[in-house]
Amino acid sequence: MRADFPRDRIFFHGNNKSEDELLAASAEGVGRIVVDNLDEITLLARVAAKREARTPVLLRVGPGVDAHTHAHLLTGAEDTKFGLDIASGAAEAGVRAVLERPKLELLGFHAHIGSQIRDIDPYREAVERLFVFAAEMRGKTGVVAREMSPGGGFGVRYTMDDPYTRPADMAREVARTMAEAARRHGFADPLPDLTIEPGRSIIAPAGVALYRVGSVKHGARTYVAVDGGMADNIRPTAYGAKYTAVLASRVSGDDVTDVAVAGKYCETGDILIQRIALPLPRVGEVIAVPASGAYQLSMASNYNMAPRPAVVVVADGHARLVRKRESYADVLAAEMG
Ligand SMILES: Cc1ncc(COP(=O)(O)O)c(C=O)c1O
Repeated sequence: MRADFPRDRIFFHGNNKSEDELLAASAEGVGRIVVDNLDEITLLARVAAKREARTPVLLRVGPGVDAHTHAHLLTGAEDTKFGLDIASGAAEAGVRAVLERPKLELLGFHAHIGSQIRDIDPYREAVERLFVFAAEMRGKTGVVAREMSPGGGFGVRYTMDDPYTRPADMAREVARTMAEAARRHGFADPLPDLTIEPGRSIIAPAGVALYRVGSVKHGARTYVAVDGGMADNIRPTAYGAKYTAVLASRVSGDDVTDVAVAGKYCETGDILIQRIALPLPRVGEVIAVPASGAYQLSMASNYNMAPRPAVVVVADGHARLVRKRESYADVLAAEMG
């Protein structure tokens, strides 16, 4: 909202939205509340009662699709904390609960099945299940889904071994799949609006993390310790995410060595890259890690009371500081003791 993004295009997600958050979203005129569970429907109905206009909602459902990705990135399987799953009847109960609240307007269904998905099949399956469910709900309750969202999750290339998928191709394929399923299930006139939510595929390739080498230690392995780590990128520690890197100051050399790129935080698991061949880094040199634009700063912490890094936008030969490096005063700002 600070960036003046159009409010009506904001979708508010979350599996435990608070009453204050829902009130704020409602007051700001956020476009869609994507309701996750029955308790939220009760809460939102209370919030919606305070407004004249009806509150537009999508219901997040669990389609029971295994998106063949890391378990921590899987969000649309039958057993997941997100949404109401179709198979158990929970999603139907959600539809009925929304329809019982006149101030809530059920516009359609949402299913984000996970992240780092590289092929279209899990989307096909999810879309099919969304429409089977939508058709069933239309038959049982008369509600007609006017909007559908299969979420985001298009895979990103972090290392040279990762396949490259073009987000635009995935989006086109998802749209085709949607239109085809809509026609087959009698939702063609008019076709429901399709929303996709590609997060990382847009922002991850836009970011490069820069680390300065503070020590190079030889032993069982060569550990290159840098001035960041799990506090600015929790992904390798949290779920074994793999990254590549280059030595920014010398991208090639005849002293190429296998090294581990270690963070500076007080955890043995704080290793950004377990093994990578680089010209042997020297103290003071800079290591650049591409594909660092998503789920890094947004997941960053002040672990070990470390200030978080600055962000510089670079384009067309110009550099602009858009986020200041945190100071110790910033880190301590909320402390009262
Ligand atoms: C509901 C929803 N939509 C879209 C996304 C974006 O996923 P990705 O960044 O993998 O495209 C997420 C990620 O957490 C999400 O929770």
